Amino acid sequence: MKKALQAPKIQIGVCYYPEHWPEEMWEDDFKRMRELGFSIVRMAEFAWSIFEPEEGSFSFAFFDRVLDFAHKHGLKVVLGTPTATPPAWLTHKYPEVLNVSQDGVQFQHGQRRHYNYNAPIYRELSARIVRQMAEHYQNHPAVIGWQIDNELNCEVNVFYSEADHKAFRAWLQNKYGTLEQLNKAWGTVFWSQTYTDWEQVHLTRPTVSDSPNPHQALDEKRFFSDSAISFAAMQAEILRKIVSHHWVTTNGIFGHLDYHKLTDGHLDFIAYDSYPNFSTIYPDKGEKPLLDRKWSWNLSNVRSISPTFAVFEQQSGPGGWVNRMEQPSPKPGQMRLWSYQSIAHGADMVLYFRWRTATVGTEIYWHGINDYHNRSNRRIEEVRKIGNEIHNIGGKIAGSRFKAEAAILKDYDNEWDGELDHWHGPFEQESISAWVKAFQYNHIPVDAFYVQPTTTVEELLKYKLLIYPHPTILTEKTAELLKEYVQQGGKLVFGARTGYKNKDGHCYMLPMPGHVLDLCGISVEDFTFVGPLQEAPAVIMADEEKTEFAAVRFNEVLKLESDQAAVLAVYKTSYFAEKPALVKHPYGNGCTYYYGGVFTLPIAERLIKEIGLAQPIGWVALPEQVELAVREQINGRQYIFLLNYSDTNQEIQINGERKELLTGKKLKGKITMEPFGVFIFESDRA
Ligand code: GLA
Repeated sequence: MKKALQAPKIQIGVCYYPEHWPEEMWEDDFKRMRELGFSIVRMAEFAWSIFEPEEGSFSFAFFDRVLDFAHKHGLKVVLGTPTATPPAWLTHKYPEVLNVSQDGVQFQHGQRRHYNYNAPIYRELSARIVRQMAEHYQNHPAVIGWQIDNELNCEVNVFYSEADHKAFRAWLQNKYGTLEQLNKAWGTVFWSQTYTDWEQVHLTRPTVSDSPNPHQALDEKRFFSDSAISFAAMQAEILRKIVSHHWVTTNGIFGHLDYHKLTDGHLDFIAYDSYPNFSTIYPDKGEKPLLDRKWSWNLSNVRSISPTFAVFEQQSGPGGWVNRMEQPSPKPGQMRLWSYQSIAHGADMVLYFRWRTATVGTEIYWHGINDYHNRSNRRIEEVRKIGNEIHNIGGKIAGSRFKAEAAILKDYDNEWDGELDHWHGPFEQESISAWVKAFQYNHIPVDAFYVQPTTTVEELLKYKLLIYPHPTILTEKTAELLKEYVQQGGKLVFGARTGYKNKDGHCYMLPMPGHVLDLCGISVEDFTFVGPLQEAPAVIMADEEKTEFAAVRFNEVLKLESDQAAVLAVYKTSYFAEKPALVKHPYGNGCTYYYGGVFTLPIAERLIKEIGLAQPIGWVALPEQVELAVREQINGRQYIFLLNYSDTNQEIQINGERKELLTGKKLKGKITMEPFGVFIFESDRA
């Protein structure tokens, strides 16, 4: 069972840093929060130097006053453990707690997240401050839950201090037992890299051409993840003992961290920080970019960890650090749209970041709901509207689960291996982006699903269609699981570079796609990538329409290995013209589709059509600009979210009369959605 946020109603609130403001402002702030419909305040995650101004001397008077005021005004509090910001006295006295870059530069006091997870003294001091806070606040009536640290692995997700090198050695000894096994797993026979003493073994260090041993690099990422998990687990254990009546979570999600393992093992649910306007500096590539709508996919990833979850930071203004201009201001209506984007995807708690923009420090441009001047503004009024709406409908929707018939499969090994291995890594994001767009523009809700050692076929069988774009590392065990899924009726799509590596990242001495060759009914006869100066060959569908696509990035020439394999498309140009590029293979009660390339939007859309998956809600016709999302209660009651991401009116067509929850109106026929508009319909399962 996945760990999920359990809440009787959807709650909204805000992040608040009382240490940034004069005490005289607190009560007024809390009062105004309540007026906006907030019920939750998140605080204290950066306040170590207030709780422990000197080593071993603790002070709670400041936050006692804050919490008492919060309680007086009926607000519930989420407390953060402050380990993301070690105080100056700590790093000055114990410099071994500092993180170090791969080329040996030690990060210093003056920012945050400058510590490492493995220095024993940092673990000790972190454990102590967490214990002190938990003991002090265990009975405070305002406190409901805890956030461990803040955004583990954000800003920096690699660690090369002495403590990390040492801990890595111990981690490897535990994993491999002997140096002989380690040498085998890392293929050190290549280029005379063989280790003869454990002291010679390190995390990757600067190498010629910036190209470390790839098997070592993969283990390193697994180690970074395990280090973060054990650091969080250490805190979670302390909290569980002392405040077992509160929930425990952390906010993510960032690189080199297996959040599924972290959450399943140690948290009550996961929380996410959602800034959809990052899409302006990290746009999705290729045609018809999703922009802020791409955050729906991020939220799908969060949902794969916890079906219902919290958003601890929901964008509430323009953003950037002093040295970075990152996010334009949300346009009127966008904060509301993004709040419902979070809710549509499973958030049952949404906290805005932050109450008021800081007037000092790195984040003086990371804007809160309130501006420096503290007068009213349009963002406050927009939040007030959301507060009223959530007050009316939050009880109905909370606890319902997002409903999808399709999922895109992912796994951490391929994600981490693909960071160094450019022969598959970059394809993953491109193909996922193409599929997410295809599902979005065709109004088909989609889940992210992480394949893990514990994954069962029953979990997969919840989906009619699975897309596993480029699972290069594919073990026999995973192959068996996927075969079982298809055997029992599932449909499964693979792209190029599937199945040629084992768990250590060694290439199998097998024809590609390795252990799924018989499942796919093909082998890869020949392959090439499309060089930067080459034109992508064309692929032509075998049906009457004879649609053509560009086979971008990578071309695998497929060879049929089964009588039942059906060629759906062949290459039209290049020396492999007429050879299969896309093959369908029936297997048991289901079938596979193997495409020897990197997916693009037209190919993904064509495959959706071929497979016959359609928009699940038949009574509404939607333009491309509008997202459809469905949440369903156990009793079958559905909440159908329509989200207009465009800044123009959009026409939708509703067949039959339907009740819209936000307006309370019954709608039918041709209806206009305003720019950034949101509709939520309540309906029984079709
Ligand atoms: C993250 C952090 C916040 C804040 C914002 C803006 O989400 O968790 O503390 O720093 O970024 O940078």
